[in-house]
Amino acid sequence: MSKRASVLFVCLGNICRSPTAEGVFRKLVEQAGLQDQIHIDSCGTSNWHIGKGPDSRSVEAAGKRDVDLSTLKARQFTEKDLDTFDYVVVMDRQNLADVKDIWHQNGGTRPTLFLEYGSTELAEVPDPYYGGEDGFEHVLDLIEDASVGLLRKIQEGMA
Ligand code: 4NP
Repeated sequence: MSKRASVLFVCLGNICRSPTAEGVFRKLVEQAGLQDQIHIDSCGTSNWHIGKGPDSRSVEAAGKRDVDLSTLKARQFTEKDLDTFDYVVVMDRQNLADVKDIWHQNGGTRPTLFLEYGSTELAEVPDPYYGGEDGFEHVLDLIEDASVGLLRKIQEGMA
């Protein structure tokens, strides 16, 4: 397989859910030997945490599953991302509305809800920021599940 694809994960702060998705999905892509073909990044719709590393609770929860988030740095979503990335994958309906506002103005890649690729009935990866530790485990469970479906979808597109 020589084709390439790029994936951008989007949440609100880029310190909990989307960096977790970036790390989990990168590990899956590496396990599939596709790291040279699939480019992965993440960002937030807000400017609140630009330049900061992920939330320590996300780093710890991901670390327990052998996913290293420690080197990531938050950045803000820009309209250019809709031209640059083949897949723009958002965590919740508010992220979708925020990105779609820009998509309606400028076109480009249509954003999708991440859990559309998953096997659960849930539509959104819930924001764990104000909750307890178990929220971060739940986020990881949902992200691991949807990552499998997303990779399958991308591989179909590359075939
Ligand atoms: P994220 O979570 O969107 O998954 O990164 C949040 C991080 C920070 C805040 C909200 C959600 N905050 O209010 O600062």
